[in-house]
Amino acid sequence: MSQAAGTAQRRIAVCEPYLGGREAEYVLDCLKTNRISSAGTYLTEFERAFARYCGAAEGIGTTSGTTALHVALAARGLGPGDEIIMPAFTIAATVFAALYVGATPVLVDVEPDTWTLRVDQVAARIGPRTRAVMPVHMYGHPCDMDPLTELARRHGLWLVEDAAEVHGAEYKGKKCGGLADAACFSFYANKIISTGEGGMVVTNDRALAERCRSLKNLGFNRERRFLHDAVGFNYRMTNLQAAIGLAQLERLDEYVERRRAHARRYNELLRDVAGVTLPVERPWARNVYWMYGILVDETFGCTRDELRAALAERGVDTRTFFIPMHEQPVFHGRGLFAGESYPTASDIGRRGLYLPSSTGLTDDEIGYVVDALRDVQATARG
Ligand SMILES: Cc1ncc(COP(=O)(O)O)c(C=O)c1O
Repeated sequence: MSQAAGTAQRRIAVCEPYLGGREAEYVLDCLKTNRISSAGTYLTEFERAFARYCGAAEGIGTTSGTTALHVALAARGLGPGDEIIMPAFTIAATVFAALYVGATPVLVDVEPDTWTLRVDQVAARIGPRTRAVMPVHMYGHPCDMDPLTELARRHGLWLVEDAAEVHGAEYKGKKCGGLADAACFSFYANKIISTGEGGMVVTNDRALAERCRSLKNLGFNRERRFLHDAVGFNYRMTNLQAAIGLAQLERLDEYVERRRAHARRYNELLRDVAGVTLPVERPWARNVYWMYGILVDETFGCTRDELRAALAERGVDTRTFFIPMHEQPVFHGRGLFAGESYPTASDIGRRGLYLPSSTGLTDDEIGYVVDALRDVQATARG
């Protein structure tokens, strides 16, 4: 590639929404019918259809993935003195949700290839205060749920999937979101399907669903409005957001196919690049590649951060992997995780980045990204 640094003509975003269906039609319908708040049929239809897609009975739309996590933990009654086991490698929202309800997050390390929590370490961290386990399906790849479910059942623990990143992913032929007692999704703009901002709790537990519905809506009593059963929140998804979500859901399977095709193309083109580890798909998994993540090691020729900067100069937008939770000063200040060690989380947090992963990516763009990466390597190696 002859593209000189800083003169790139092209810009390839790391992840953009893909609004290829009936979004405008449905949103216009909301406007025409004056249904722009959380009261409206698009919301109930989106909740019903998305829950069904996941193999669950109930869906409760929220304002974000973070508030879905919060409302789910609150509805389960988790609070001070309760411990929730979760991976060290995740986004801070997972830990925040535990803190919002006053519970204590307890971390475990992750697998070096799927980047999801290590079930053997979960077993080791179960104690008298443990109440729940929150596996996080990572970057499109599900956690190994069977041994985790077995462990949770044996110890009477509540199991809630953080499924923010895995719309349409499967574990042993079953959709993520239908694999545990409850699951929480995000529909932020960079997610596989989006409502701009938004989230949803899905569950087969009708009593839990009712509590989520009440809590997300100021804890209103069902019979007597303005009487409150609990200190609730306003985490209501709007009909407008749900209208977009429903149109997106209608095409989710197609989006997943596209993302899997992008991953196959990246895998093919990057296979022989030294110093780059590619994402995996375990035999029991259907990875939806929310983000196509790679790990960069010293044999590549430059560091992960140097590679990122050089790709940016060539018009290729990337993101680093998450900074693990035990490396976040904000938690140390609250007496959490300081001095704890999760070597794999730290290692992938330092070496990981994700390449452009949008549903709408073209083969030509993938080719450009890989050429740019190879060019950076050739330049670095002199
Ligand atoms: C694993 C995980 N959990 C929770 C969230 C929070 O979702 P939101 O940004 O919709 O609040 C995200 C967002 O990216 C996420 O990746």
